Amino acid sequence: MSCCTTSQPHEGTNRFFSRWSKRYAKDYKKKGLAKEQRFLLEGIKKEPIHSRTILDIGCGVGALHHTLLREGAARSVGIDIADGMVRQAEEFAKQFNLQDRAEYRSGDFVQLAGTLGESDVTVLDKVVCCYEDLEALLEASAAKTKRILALTHPKENLLMRVGFKTQIALAKLFRWKFHPYWHDWVAMKAAIIARGFEPVYENSTIAWQVLVFRRV
Ligand SMILES: C[S@@+](CC[C@H](N)C(=O)[O-])C[C@H]1O[C@@H](n2cnc3c(N)ncnc32)[C@H](O)[C@@H]1O
Repeated sequence: MSCCTTSQPHEGTNRFFSRWSKRYAKDYKKKGLAKEQRFLLEGIKKEPIHSRTILDIGCGVGALHHTLLREGAARSVGIDIADGMVRQAEEFAKQFNLQDRAEYRSGDFVQLAGTLGESDVTVLDKVVCCYEDLEALLEASAAKTKRILALTHPKENLLMRVGFKTQIALAKLFRWKFHPYWHDWVAMKAAIIARGFEPVYENSTIAWQVLVFRRV
């Protein structure tokens, strides 16, 4: 089930990731979960996920919440600014016969948060670097999370820093409608802890830092 439409301020993000959604779907079909997603899952499953509810923010084509549902989670809500991503995620949910437990929304989570319920587990996989207002995104995500908050962010290393900063500079120069964001990742972690969470799992790939928190 899906509803709502993407609001204008994020039309660039919608178009960019909707175009990429076919590639994401192809990779998911061919390779399954990416390495950082396997780490996320490992961290989330430090606690039983049976009968838990999942909120997958910036859900992409749905790899994480589909896996959690197949492994015993009760229900999921997947939300993404990109309509194309949501369509692909819904399509996969039908293929895996999960459609009765998987709900979808198109749009900006920060704007739609008031229309969503709380969840046991909230996931933000490679999302915090795609949204300008990190503070608002964290605030709304934490407020919806009853137990586990799991996320990935670009790893703090020269390769990722230069890669991101170059994309941002090019995007500004050529006035692209979407560009990624390089936030202060140390401050982000501190902000999550300040909202009443404690770190329970940390891992990384060359490109991504994986962090899982539990509400204290
Ligand atoms: C890099 S993709 C990652 C998709 C998926 N989580 C994955 O790892 O395969 C980031 C996604 O987050 C979505 N996104 C970014 N900010 C968002 C927000 N505030 N609300 C909903 N979706 C958001 C984008 O549209 C995009 O599809």
